[in-house]
Amino acid sequence: MSIQRIGIVGAGNISGIYLQNLTGMFGKRVKLVAITDLIEEKAAKASAEYGITHIKKTADLINSPDVDIILNITEPYNHYGVALAAVKAGKHVYDEKPLCAQREEAQEVLRAAVENKVRVGNSPDTFLGAGIQTCRKLLDDGWIGKPVAATAFMVNHGHEHWHPGPEFYYKNGGGPMFDMGPYYITALVNLLGPVARVCGSAKKCFETRTITSEPLNGKVINVDIPTHITGILDFANGAVGTIITSFDVYSHTLPWIEIYGSEGTLRVPDPNTFGGPVFVKRYREENWSEIPLLKDYPENSRGLGITDMAEAIVEGRPHRASGEMAYHVLDIMHGIHDASASGKYYKLKSKCKRPEPLLK
Ligand SMILES: NC(=O)c1ccc[n+]([C@@H]2O[C@H](COP(=O)([O-])OP(=O)(O)OC[C@H]3O[C@@H](n4cnc5c(N)ncnc54)[C@H](O)[C@@H]3O)[C@@H](O)[C@H]2O)c1
Repeated sequence: MSIQRIGIVGAGNISGIYLQNLTGMFGKRVKLVAITDLIEEKAAKASAEYGITHIKKTADLINSPDVDIILNITEPYNHYGVALAAVKAGKHVYDEKPLCAQREEAQEVLRAAVENKVRVGNSPDTFLGAGIQTCRKLLDDGWIGKPVAATAFMVNHGHEHWHPGPEFYYKNGGGPMFDMGPYYITALVNLLGPVARVCGSAKKCFETRTITSEPLNGKVINVDIPTHITGILDFANGAVGTIITSFDVYSHTLPWIEIYGSEGTLRVPDPNTFGGPVFVKRYREENWSEIPLLKDYPENSRGLGITDMAEAIVEGRPHRASGEMAYHVLDIMHGIHDASASGKYYKLKSKCKRPEPLLK
């Protein structure tokens, strides 16, 4: 099989861009063949729009002989069940972030994947875009010297003003760290390598949230998880990182990510996008310089990670948006929460290699 065939589980909010890109910009490199959703109309609509098969039962899609890779874009608390069923059926699986809600669930999926000789891939794939790949090249080429520290900030007031079903953001597997942390921490791990230990403080500033988007306008959500989390990340390479993720902040003036080096500073673009801008200021320079981006993937290229995985399967090489890295990121995110609860540093039990740069 030289081209991998993909079946999507979950025809929700994020499915649109995957349907568009996997049939469009990546349509010659992978083949999108089928979709399913517990809500039949959603999958039927996508099937009609993109000319792919609508399979009514999730188990039938997972077991279909016409599907090689399952793209699991269900809610975070459903990632585990779908991913485990997929790998047990001998299918490769690529999940949206986070890998699973809990570490034990993710471990089980990864173990079952090894036993069944299939791959696990995971979002985000934004770190493969032109913006962060340009940053990676600048760092690897020594533009700011040796990285000594980093900051990352993802602060806003949550998703209940726009998402049609925002409840999951305030339940197990949700919260700003598990929802958005993967973009920021994956970008940091790609740039600086694995993390050795973390500490942090996590709190819930609002007990309830009121939905203001349609169709659930006015519904009150009970908040089950921390919604303001501050973490310290000690990287194995000696750099010290600070991260704040929050759904409790109305306004701020913080950057997305900055990397501080022995010879200058690198301003990293929004890791929830594939593009720029990228800025550098070396210690003798008066002004920031905007660095032209490497040319590939500056636009919304969701689907790049699963496409890289599909090609890696055929070529017999490691894929970049790997389950191993996603598990390390999950371990970091839980570790920050654990440290907050225990009052002690959490030493990471997982590690991963930096993925190969995509763009030279
Ligand atoms: N919405 C976004 O902008 C966005 C952006 C990036 C990543 N994500 C991630 O994508 C994932 C999905 O988010 P969303 O916003 O699309 O959620 P959503 O709630 O809009 O859609 C999830 C869909 O999965 C379906 N589903 C759940 N379990 C299923 C099962 N066992 N079989 C078949 N269908 C099942 C649900 O019926 C629902 O239609 C999450 O992990 C989220 O973190 C979302």
